[in-house]
Amino acid sequence: MAAGVTADARADMNDRYAVVGNPVAHSLSPKIHRMFAEQTAQQISYEAIELPIDDFAGRIRELQDQGIKGLNVTVPFKQQAWEICDARAPRAETAGAVNTLVFKQDGEILGDNTDGAGLVRDLTINHHSQIRHRNILIMGAGGATRGVLEPLLALEPKSLTIVNRTIDKAENLARIFQSFGEINSCGYDHLGKQKFDLIINATAAGLNDEIPPLADSVPGSHSICYDMMYRLNAPTAFLRWAQTRGATRVFDGLGMLVEQAAESFFIWRGVRVETAAVIASLRQV
Ligand code: ATR
Repeated sequence: MAAGVTADARADMNDRYAVVGNPVAHSLSPKIHRMFAEQTAQQISYEAIELPIDDFAGRIRELQDQGIKGLNVTVPFKQQAWEICDARAPRAETAGAVNTLVFKQDGEILGDNTDGAGLVRDLTINHHSQIRHRNILIMGAGGATRGVLEPLLALEPKSLTIVNRTIDKAENLARIFQSFGEINSCGYDHLGKQKFDLIINATAAGLNDEIPPLADSVPGSHSICYDMMYRLNAPTAFLRWAQTRGATRVFDGLGMLVEQAAESFFIWRGVRVETAAVIASLRQV
């Protein structure tokens, strides 16, 4: 190390970051983090790395040996990322999934989960939606739902209902998170005539351009419909469906993607970014 170079200055010298997943080639994360780096004048590199399905832990050690500073983790590795951590942030601990890894100088691996914070920031700040005292429905009971339940419940909704095709999975999540707030679970046929202020699609249905089997009567004209998936130039299948059933406020998950990335960037670099400009720029592509 050159004399007089401080630890902080050293951290600015092209620290390497990446998103790992499989597949990962189409991830927007490299583009988003490069925009963050430009905006905040940070000298970092950020790439997308596809890891083999069967050797996640081994490949992470290799990246660590190469001196990588941090990773974002996406499908299907978030649970495995949770397992390899030496320590985890409380929100990652309960989520059972990690989307942000920090590699410390002493070899320790820290894990965090910024997905829930990303969703909450997008809903409450970018879209001015209120969660406190509202009735919320979340569709799906997989990792995407699990990652956001605690931050949503922390905002004290009146109720949060998890609906899933496989009811056992919804019941299981409701049990795990019951100490965090008013949480219920059911199947799609059991929703009855309940109306919800906020309906969140956290299912994988959109991957096949499908929509969850939600009754036409569930979204009211006052319901905000949010799809954790996004399409840059058109509404997702679920949001199109919701619009034709009268929902007027529909949002996709691009803002959540950028906000969770911003939270990871803050964890790594200690700097807050201006997300609105990044979201607008991505929409224009
Ligand atoms: P993720 O980690 O992205 O949440 P996952 O753990 O595989 O992925 O969970 C996918 C979720 O999407 C599940 O809740 C699944 O419902 P089931 O548990 O009943 O399988 C839900 N899902 C996938 N395709 C769906 C569809 N076409 N309609 C409704 N729900 C669907």
